[in-house]
Amino acid sequence: MRWLVTGGLGFIGSNFVRQALRDRPDLEIVNLDAMTYAGNPANLRDVEADPRYRFVRGDICDPDAVREAIGDGTDAIVNFAAETHVDRSILAPEAFLRTDILGTHVLLEAVREHEIPRYLQVSTDEVYGDVADGESGEGDPLRPRSPYSASKAGGDLQVLAYWTTYETPVLITRGSNTYGPYQYPEKLIPLFVTNLIDDEAVPVYGDGLQVRDWLHVDDHARGIAHVLEHGAFGNVYNIGGGNPRTNLEITQRLLDGCGRSKETHVKHVADRAGHDRRYAIDSAKAAGIGWRPRVEFETGLRATIDWYRENESWWRPLKSGEFRDYYTRQYAGRYH
Ligand code: DAU
Repeated sequence: MRWLVTGGLGFIGSNFVRQALRDRPDLEIVNLDAMTYAGNPANLRDVEADPRYRFVRGDICDPDAVREAIGDGTDAIVNFAAETHVDRSILAPEAFLRTDILGTHVLLEAVREHEIPRYLQVSTDEVYGDVADGESGEGDPLRPRSPYSASKAGGDLQVLAYWTTYETPVLITRGSNTYGPYQYPEKLIPLFVTNLIDDEAVPVYGDGLQVRDWLHVDDHARGIAHVLEHGAFGNVYNIGGGNPRTNLEITQRLLDGCGRSKETHVKHVADRAGHDRRYAIDSAKAAGIGWRPRVEFETGLRATIDWYRENESWWRPLKSGEFRDYYTRQYAGRYH
């Protein structure tokens, strides 16, 4: 059995590759990754020497790179490759349209050309847009509101159109906010933890009462593999953590975990443009095929804080490079 994983040097992709190789002794994985700022070889240092693992550097928008990664065939493609950070999509949307829509199209064409038996698109609950109350089901209309989520929705619609038009064997997962080890420090949890370790303040957008549903990356990775193996083609599966929390609640947990106080280490800054107030998804369909999250949130969050404490050598180089320019551009004007 061989799977082609794209974007396997990113956060969820690298956790997926590690878990899949560990849990399936007969599996080979080819990892096609463009090594953008978020694709970090250190994320998979521990599997690099595994003979069942092959790395190909390349962009999913490049059909030749995709062909090279497919080589003499693959049993499935799992597409993690994406631009994923909402704030970056507000500063510079074009890369999001390119990778998340055009890249998806190139992969779908490769699935048709090489008659690959299965394709899974890793998507997001953000495509449903802001949900004032209740939970989004897979059949709900897509109402994306940021350049990022609109790009992901565009990718999802391409995937579903290929199923309808060509009967391409596709699946989609829509995961909720994911946390855990190896997450690039631009996202809420790793940004705040690493700032707090460094005795810096954390920038809470607006009132901090926005709600996200938190899912441990191990559960997310297991959910994707489960849908790949047990999902029905042409279907979408929500993968939610079932842990709705306001950003202020998360912030308080992180302050406690790092021994800092709200009074000295929290700054309310200008809100994100078009900030979605709440996401919530119903994961009953994934439960119906046998997937459920296992990681208890408080335990998972504590372990995640510990991981960042114990792995400074992983995140320190990230925060000092490209990230510094980004952080200045993103946050300098926000403090008022
Ligand atoms: O819901 C799934 C999505 O979760 C994924 O599709 C995205 O790729 C992923 O980035 C994440 O999107 P969010 O925008 O929810 O994640 P982020 O970590 O950027 O922000 C989480 C919440 O925290 C959001 O309400 C904005 C807020 N926030 C974020 C940052 C970076 C702050 O208050 N301050 C910050 O500095």
